[in-house]
Amino acid sequence: MFVATAPTAPNTLSKTALYADLNAQLKSLVEGERDFIANAANFSALLFHLLPDLNWAGFYLLRGDSLILGPFQGKPACVRIPVLPAPRGVCGNAAFHKRTFLVPNVHAFAGHIACDAASNAEIVIPLMSGERVIGVLDIDSPLIDRFDEADQAGLEAMVQTFMAASDPSTLK
Ligand code: SME
Repeated sequence: MFVATAPTAPNTLSKTALYADLNAQLKSLVEGERDFIANAANFSALLFHLLPDLNWAGFYLLRGDSLILGPFQGKPACVRIPVLPAPRGVCGNAAFHKRTFLVPNVHAFAGHIACDAASNAEIVIPLMSGERVIGVLDIDSPLIDRFDEADQAGLEAMVQTFMAASDPSTLK
């Protein structure tokens, strides 16, 4: 059975080493499993428990013109976020523009949707199936400036691991 283990002294590891460790753990966690929801649920739990200073980590999945809340860890969150015709929030914008949004201070982001009053920084990574966006990974922190380019690179690599392992057709 897979057991998630906190890297030794996570605060002294470089972010590159931390994400290499987390990505290796994610690979073992999703190995041999194609179910999208099951893998998304375990991915959000791994991030929430092993990445320092988070208050929310989870998924929104595209259904029609909106993102709908998927597997997550943290407090209950808003359920629907419009993407079309006009994107809302950091999540809607990441899905609409098909690129990562790294927001050092959510209070300075016009249209940010405050689901948890504790959130001060956010990073949202689109889930791409070929050219098609099928959802986003959303991560929130109570610390302003919590995420930087090293977090973005590490998290984008983990999203690739997750997407390579998981079959979006299992969502139907
Ligand atoms: N803050 C997000 C909404 C989702 S919650 O953070 C979980 C946004 O602006 O899209």
